[in-house]
Parts: sequence; C-alpha cells; structure tokens
Amino acid sequence: MSRKPPQSDWHPATWQSRAATQQPLYPDPAEVERVVASLAQLPPIVTSGEILALKQQLAEAQRGERFLLQGGDCAESFEDCTSDAIASKLKILLQMSVVLLYGLKKPVIRVGRMAGQYAKPRSADSETREGLTLPSYRGDLVNRHPFVKEDRVPDPQLMLRGYERAALTLNFVRALVDGGFADLHHPENWDLDFVDHSPIADNYQEIVHSISESLDFFELVSGQPASSGTERIDFFASHEGLHLHYEQAQTRYLEKRKGWFNLSTHFPWIGMRTADLEGGHVEYYRGIQNPIAIKLGPSITPEWLQELIGALNPHGEPGRLTLICRFGAKKIEEALPPLIQAVRATGSPVLWSCDPMHGNTESTASGVKTRRFENILAEVQSAFAVHKEMGSYLGGVHFELTGDNVTECTGGARGLTDADLARAYRSTVDPRLNYEQALELALCIARGRHA
Ligand code: PEP
Ligand code: CO
Repeated sequence: MSRKPPQSDWHPATWQSRAATQQPLYPDPAEVERVVASLAQLPPIVTSGEILALKQQLAEAQRGERFLLQGGDCAESFEDCTSDAIASKLKILLQMSVVLLYGLKKPVIRVGRMAGQYAKPRSADSETREGLTLPSYRGDLVNRHPFVKEDRVPDPQLMLRGYERAALTLNFVRALVDGGFADLHHPENWDLDFVDHSPIADNYQEIVHSISESLDFFELVSGQPASSGTERIDFFASHEGLHLHYEQAQTRYLEKRKGWFNLSTHFPWIGMRTADLEGGHVEYYRGIQNPIAIKLGPSITPEWLQELIGALNPHGEPGRLTLICRFGAKKIEEALPPLIQAVRATGSPVLWSCDPMHGNTESTASGVKTRRFENILAEVQSAFAVHKEMGSYLGGVHFELTGDNVTECTGGARGLTDADLARAYRSTVDPRLNYEQALELALCIARGRHA
C-alpha cells in the first residue's frame, strides 16, 4: 500500500482552511494532532474493496434494482458496546431486511448506523443549568454526558476510544454474519424476542417461513444451494461524518485504486447542519472515493442541492451520492417534488432515501422528546407516493431504531402513549423506534401500504 498521492488541490486536511461547523473546541490543539497521528497509524476498520462493492450496489439501487435499509441508534454510546446490544441491533436490521426483500421483491442493502456513530451535531455550543454553563454533549467521541465540568470538556483521547469501540463492534458483526447468524436456513436465529405475544408476530412468521420454504424448494429442485444472496449476506457500516479530525485520521491514499478512501466506515453522510457549500465538510467529502449521503431538510433549496451535486459528484459517477430526505410528514409533499426536478436537471444519478425520523420530532406536554409512529409511517408513505407520481424511485429508508424494548416513540401496534415514555426511555439524544415498532414499520412498507 503505497502512499504517493498525485499533486492536487485536495488532501485530507484541506478542510482545515475552511469554516467547519459543529467541531469540538479542544483545550489543547497539540494533543488533537498527536491523537490524529496515532489514529492514522492504526489499521483501517473497513477496506476499499468493501467500499467499492457497496458503491456498486448503491448504483444498482439508483437504477431501481435494489433497496437500501439504513438504521441504528441516533448516537451509539461506548457503554452500549456490548454483545447483546450489538447482536439485537443486527438482528432487527436483518429481520427488517428480510421483510423488505419479501415485500419489495428486491435485494436489500443492509447498512447499520453502527461502528462509529459517536459524534452529534448540537443546536448550541453550550448548555446552562442553574447558572452553570458547560460545553454541550457532542457524543461519546467528543465528551461525556454527565453535566459536570470534567465530563463535558472535549477530550481528544475519546477519538481513540471511539475508534476502538467501532472496531470491536464491526468485528463482532462480521463474526456473527460469517458464523451463520444471518442464514435463513436457520430460522431459530430469526425468532422474535417478545415476551408477550406480539400483535405483529404472525405476519412476520409467515414471511420468514415462506422465504425458508422457497429456499428449500429451490435447493431441492436445483440440487444446489440457493444463490439468491439470502444465505450469505453483506452488512455495511455508516455514520455521520461530522468530526473532521476523526475522519481525516483514517483517510488514506491507495495506490492500487488511485484514490483517497475514508477507511473508518463504508458510507459516511453529511448532516443537514454541515452541508454548507463553502464549509469544511463539503471540502473534505469532495476528495474521498467512498459513496456518501447528504441529509436534506426543509432549509435546502433546489439551487443549493444542484451546487452540492456539482461539488460532490462533478462527473455524475453512479453510486456516489445518496440523498436522505427528512422533511416531516407535514412538509414532504411540498418540499420533495422541486428537489426531484432539480436533480433531474443535473443529469446526475442519485439514490433517494427517506428518513422519516428527524422531521417528526416533537415534545410531549411534560417536555420529553418523542416521535409518533403514525407520523413516521405517514412520511414514508408520502415519500413513496411522491416518487411514484413523479416517475422517480424511492430506493431507501433511514431509521433511528434499537433492537431493545425501549419506550421512546409513541404508537405502533401496542399503542404506546406519552405516559409510557418514562418506563424505558434510554436515548441521550433522539427517540428511537423499539424492536417491535421497527419491525412493524418494515411490515407496513412490505405490505405496500405505501402505494
Ligand atoms: C441524525 O441523523 O441523527 C441527525 C442529526 O440528522 P440530521 O442531520 O438530519 O438532523
Ligand atoms: Co438523530
């Protein structure tokens, strides 16, 4: 692996000459440099071969041949880097993907918001409680959540701890996937975890049995193992590429590929708050070969989007750009059509995905952040309908979810109410769909309740 990049006006640190928003203010910049240098020496978390395979699959999804399922925590926490939490998140994503595969009749690209989703954008740099002002919590990669000075001051060493947790997480995911956890010939891995009988269990079991049976039938008839891709799967990692020192540290020039790759994740995305054309994030992301996504919210304009496409995918490369829209159920019907038109006018391929979470956040009367299942479903349904009407293709969904039985979003088959939220609210940032709500959403999409 040689490191002789050609002369260019870009390298992994050129973002530092731009204004980069949402970056931590570290008390000791020299320590940041030392940490970045040690991170740069460590082996990569993912490989360029995997990154390019994903880009190829995303290109196929852009053509309507695949569907993208992306999901996981709003913010992973170091504390939740446990075998149970990782396995249950992988399991719910696999179960959802099987349901989507069955319903949409397309191979599903599985991408976790996992193994690196540790940095969060915040609306304010600081937080004041009872006269004490401290830096905002920006995710475990930056500082710690308790409201005390020692925990809130950004600590560069946490980048190393985050990198290690990301590697541990992906290592375990890879072992589970390779060890047959995702093999549909073993439906026992696919059982539902509910203690009480779930209102959606029967529907789910029908789908799993029907897929297992068709695999068995295929093998019986052909005398060969089914090669539908369901018995041996790919699983990819993604995170918001927010913390640019961290992203820079694992960015390498690969001579054999003649390009720079961010090897900390397969698929980084640019958050809505950092998509400024002149900002540090767009500068950094224009130089790497990974497929990337951009979150689009109500503030985006058609012209801005066209300029982003020009900056981030000037040659219209297939698979490079995914647009994740998060307008909210009330705004999507008005906001999406002009963007679809604007993208069309560029002639550049994109993959359209729907994040029905971030535009539907609200506070309960007692001030708890939540999201209602019906609004989440309504935004997905509208996204499918708008794309269909415009002859476009909605090729993906993006959810905040957990494999655990939390109570952070209301609604769903069990009819969780505001009063249930206190019971098991564990997120330090945004409210996530629980295991059952996440699976129910996949079932609704698969049943074509979106059409
Ligand atoms: C997120 O995905 O957690 C997030 C902060 O999203 P957005 O950039 O869309 O607000
Ligand atoms: Co979030």
